Amino acid sequence: MKTIVMLISGRGSNMQAIATALAAERWPARIAAVISHRPHAGGLDWAREQGLHTVVIDHTGFANREAFDAALAAEIDRYDPDLVVLAGFMRILTEGFVRHFEGRLMNIHPSLLPAFAGLHTHQRALDAGCKVAGATVHFVTPTLDHGPVVIQAAVPVLPGDDEARLAARVLACEHVVYPRAVRWFLADELRLEPEGRVRHQHGEPQWLWAAP
Ligand code: GRF
Repeated sequence: MKTIVMLISGRGSNMQAIATALAAERWPARIAAVISHRPHAGGLDWAREQGLHTVVIDHTGFANREAFDAALAAEIDRYDPDLVVLAGFMRILTEGFVRHFEGRLMNIHPSLLPAFAGLHTHQRALDAGCKVAGATVHFVTPTLDHGPVVIQAAVPVLPGDDEARLAARVLACEHVVYPRAVRWFLADELRLEPEGRVRHQHGEPQWLWAAP
């Protein structure tokens, strides 16, 4: 039985997608804790309704980023997780935190990395005139929104799109690829090659193309 810890900041729809797939597909895994730095993160309510163990570590109570990250790492370590899933966790993590969990720390970012790291990805893709947008699941390294890519989903940018429409189209794909990436990891199906590439060892497609 593998153990997952999830970190959320907001509504937690990616957390829900993963937790729902885990239950529906009967993965040999359990979610030991859902942790948020925001006491009122919407996803906490859903997690509690599912009977998941939730923890709040309010970042505003800490003097600096290092102190918060140390407390967060100590809490996560209590569950000895195989995988720490950042599911809409909107905080920059210190290098020490990332190194501590390196290789078992996954994130989803709503762009086709390495394009548009950081915030406002959808508006930036629209402003750049991109015809394709998407999302990336990757292992976390100390550089923000950077690290070995596990799977990417691509969606078209359609005439008349605004930020909300594009974000919704991308989010629907996030809910497909993030559970898939987590399932692969927990089943030991991912290989991290020396040059920093991630390969699915049975050759499953590490991309999703959502045609309109
Ligand atoms: C998602 O678009 C995710 O890619 C980004 O923040 C959003 C979080 O959504 N990092 P949710 O909290 O999972 O619903």
